[in-house]
Amino acid sequence: MENKTVYLNGEYLPLNEAKVSVLDRGFLFGDGIYEVIPSYSGHLFHFQDHLQRLENSLAGIRLANPHTREQWLDILTPLLDAKFDQYIYLQITRGVAPKRDHAFPENIPATVFAMCSNIVPFAGLNQGVKAISMDDTRWKFCNVKAITLLGNILHRQEAIDQGCAEALLVKDGYVIEGAASNIFAVIDGVLCTPPKGSDILPGITRDVILDLARKNNIACSEDKIPFAKLQTASEIWVTSSTREIIPVVELDSRMVSGEKPGPVWQAMNQIFQAYKQSLIMSEGVIEETFFEFPCQFPVKAMGKADMELDLLVVEIVRRHAPDVKEDAVTTRPSKDGNFIAITVIIEASSKKQLDAIYQDLTDHPHVLMAL
Ligand code: PDD
Repeated sequence: MENKTVYLNGEYLPLNEAKVSVLDRGFLFGDGIYEVIPSYSGHLFHFQDHLQRLENSLAGIRLANPHTREQWLDILTPLLDAKFDQYIYLQITRGVAPKRDHAFPENIPATVFAMCSNIVPFAGLNQGVKAISMDDTRWKFCNVKAITLLGNILHRQEAIDQGCAEALLVKDGYVIEGAASNIFAVIDGVLCTPPKGSDILPGITRDVILDLARKNNIACSEDKIPFAKLQTASEIWVTSSTREIIPVVELDSRMVSGEKPGPVWQAMNQIFQAYKQSLIMSEGVIEETFFEFPCQFPVKAMGKADMELDLLVVEIVRRHAPDVKEDAVTTRPSKDGNFIAITVIIEASSKKQLDAIYQDLTDHPHVLMAL
């Protein structure tokens, strides 16, 4: 067993020294919730969104959040290693009660555990995977990221036993999600995913994909998907934090998209990878920010390195901020040299101005991402 450092109830200690009582309610009842947060080169991906979901899961099981968002960041940061792409596994249970009793115990601290693991690129990413469909046998609060995952693991194991990577869960004739992933399908040229609700886990990857699709003019819809429609889909993908966007090329032994990843997946995967790069290159904190105008604002854009992107970006920015100086522009290549990020510092006068710049940048086919 790899003896890395983990966090348990206020302490950082080697994994093999991290011990929890057999009376822990997570062990006895599965009474707890968890989060999985990816981190790329040391930058936590959509951290605030993951923490929002954590707060919703805690509220869903009536357990108080033991920490503020700032405290969570302080707790998790020392576990990260910027040399790797990793994910944090974070678990909170209702703590160690004096005896086994279904009723909630009173006045005992929650058990908080966190560890970090390297993300191993998923083998099926580029060639696609096989999936089977199954009747969804899980409980009614699938929006809560509960550690009680027996339903999910039995579904996943059945898929593995049949030589597949994922089980697609069907309820009342509609496909819901995967055993540990959300589902997307391209049906009649539209990228479809089921709406959020108590049937599915509101995946952060799912939300990012929808957002990127809309920004890149890919037609999409959040509507229930009848299973019969899924069988006609030209593409099917499953998405999650640790595997990203995986194309499904065979469903119930029937070929999907000619048994290879389809063109919409190719486009979206490229956009998603570029987006990740852009977050890393912009030094991390890419969350909703509130500004007071006027202010200095870094407009960021990114694209393929072989385009004259800096000239293009400056030209677009100048349409809305004419007095941009040459020394306000910096460029930075990605680690592999395939992408380039341009930052232009402007004197921003309003949100409207920033929105207009952003719109023109994202509308341009050579700009893969603008922030
Ligand atoms: N699972 N639906 C289910 C049932 C899941 O378990 C997951 C992820 C998702 C995708 O959510 P996200 O994009 O936020 O990772 C959807 C994680 C990775 C796990 O249990 O390990």
